This record gives sequence, structure tokens and C-alpha cells, in this order.
Amino acid sequence: MSHSIRRAQAVDAQALLDLRKASILGLCARHYPHEDLVAFTAVEVNPAFLAILEGHFYLAEREGIIVGSGLINLADGQVDAIFVHPAAAGHGVGRAMMAYLEGLARSSGLAGMKLEATLNAAAFYRRLGFVGDKQSVYVTRNGLALACVPMVKTFS
Ligand SMILES: CC(C)(COP(=O)(O)OP(=O)(O)OC[C@H]1O[C@@H](n2cnc3c(N)ncnc32)[C@H](O)[C@@H]1OP(=O)(O)O)[C@@H](O)C(=O)NCCC(=O)NCCS
Repeated sequence: MSHSIRRAQAVDAQALLDLRKASILGLCARHYPHEDLVAFTAVEVNPAFLAILEGHFYLAEREGIIVGSGLINLADGQVDAIFVHPAAAGHGVGRAMMAYLEGLARSSGLAGMKLEATLNAAAFYRRLGFVGDKQSVYVTRNGLALACVPMVKTFS
């Protein structure tokens, strides 16, 4: 599957939230209660999300359609918003986005990356060299508590 990665812009905000919702509802369903995923995806374009988009937020697109997203904070290596559309899953989009973010992290002189994996995605990150297997709790901006696995990748 051929796709390209570019920086996200404010004009992409709604499409990115639509991607996030489809990805979470479609690919996390077996690991979390449905009502938690509905609450987690009930996000609208707002100033806080637009501010996040101004950071290092990237999207993968194929033939003009957004199929993946990801962001990294180059101050501390925190990775977030890794979402692939269910229709594009299993074709290397997630791996390509993570490789792109790792390239940015290495160019910035970071020693590694860190993230809070959803339960369904921990094995994916492990495949990419991340370690960590202790379950923790991720609390969202609106106070929703979701099980997660904190993971790190230290560059050699
Ligand atoms: C997790 C996710 C990003 C993976 O994206 P993807 O594009 O389907 O993954 P890729 O096709 O790039 O897979 C890369 C490798 O990981 C493996 N992999 C992918 N998903 C996996 C999973 N759930 N469990 C185990 N291995 C997985 C693939 O087999 C592949 O291995 P290989 O290249 O060595 O053969 C995607 O399933 C997703 O968006 N999930 C829902 C949202 C989510 O939970 N995001 C993470 C938030 S922390």
C-alpha cells in the first residue's frame, strides 16, 4: 500500500478526528468496554486540539485520503495519536509512521521515545523495539480512565 507522510494542518482537524474515531472504535473494541470507547472518541474540533496540531503532528495519506496519524513531542520523546484506519490496517502504515517519528527524534538528538500503549497495540510497539509490560491507567483530558501499557524505546 503506497502512502505519503506529511505534517498535519488545521484544515485536517476534522478528518483526523474522524480517523481517530474509526480507528479506536474499529480496532480497540475487543480490549475496552464499548461505552468507554464511545466516550473516548466523543471529541470535537476545539482550540486545545488545534493547538496540538501545531506541534509535530503528522498524517499518512493515500490518494488524498488520510489513513494514519501520529505525533511526537520533541522536547521529551512522548509519542501519541498513533491511529490507522481499520480499512488500511495491517499494511505497514503504523510501522511507517513510527519510523518517521523515530527519524525526527534521532535527528533532534533524543535518546529514545516513550508512549502509553493501548492494550491492543502493545504487541505492535513491541515488534518495533519498545519494551514495557506493566499495565497502568491513562487518564484522558475529560477524566476517563483507560488501561494502558507504558513503553519506551531507547536508541542504541
Ligand atoms: C496499532 C496500529 C497503529 C498498528 O498499525 P498497522 O498499520 O495496522 O500496523 P503495521 O501494518 O504497520 O504493522 C507493523 C508490524 O506490527 C505487527 N502488528 C500490527 N498490529 C499488531 C497487533 N495488534 N498485534 C501484534 N502485532 C501487530 C504487524 O504484524 C507488523 O509486523 P511485521 O511488519 O514485522 O510483519 C493500528 O492497529 C491501530 O491504529 N490501532 C487502533 C488505535 C490504537 O490503538 N493506536 C495505538 C494508540 S497507543
